Amino acid sequence: MSDFTYNKGDFGTKSSRTGEFNVERTFLMVKPDGVQRRLVGEIIRRFEAKGFTLAALEMVKPTREQAEAHYGVHRGKPFFEGVVSFISSGPVVAMVWEGDDVVALSRKLMGATKPADSTPGTIRGDFANSIEQNLIHGSDSPENAELEISIWFGQ
Ligand code: CMP
Repeated sequence: MSDFTYNKGDFGTKSSRTGEFNVERTFLMVKPDGVQRRLVGEIIRRFEAKGFTLAALEMVKPTREQAEAHYGVHRGKPFFEGVVSFISSGPVVAMVWEGDDVVALSRKLMGATKPADSTPGTIRGDFANSIEQNLIHGSDSPENAELEISIWFGQ
């Protein structure tokens, strides 16, 4: 675990910008399969190329408690146990990214969860063929982004 701390506001927030900008932050995680397959650099490259700002990064082996908190909204679903076990099975790269409409746009860069629906050109469309081992997680709303950032970065 690193000593790095990420201070909200270091990179500007919605309230510090004016005009039509919708500066948001989101939580992205390269899952254990992405780390094992050496796709961390490729994934980061795609978000940087799109113009987003990497605001915080930590490589960590999630505890079961962290994994359960992260997937709390899926508790009770048939895939909950599998996905919790999977993301706590090895190191992941937890990140905060910032930029205009980063929540929605990062999900477009990631591609759909189901392999049959993920379009080539997206991260999952290009590299994933499993619904569970699908390389990357990204927050689905600004509210969940804040929740997930607090789970992984403590603020
Ligand atoms: P993620 O975006 O991290 O959010 C929940 C994860 O559960 C999802 O990606 C998938 O990796 C995993 N998962 C496994 N089975 C399913 C399923 N049937 N429907 C949705 N998500 C699933």
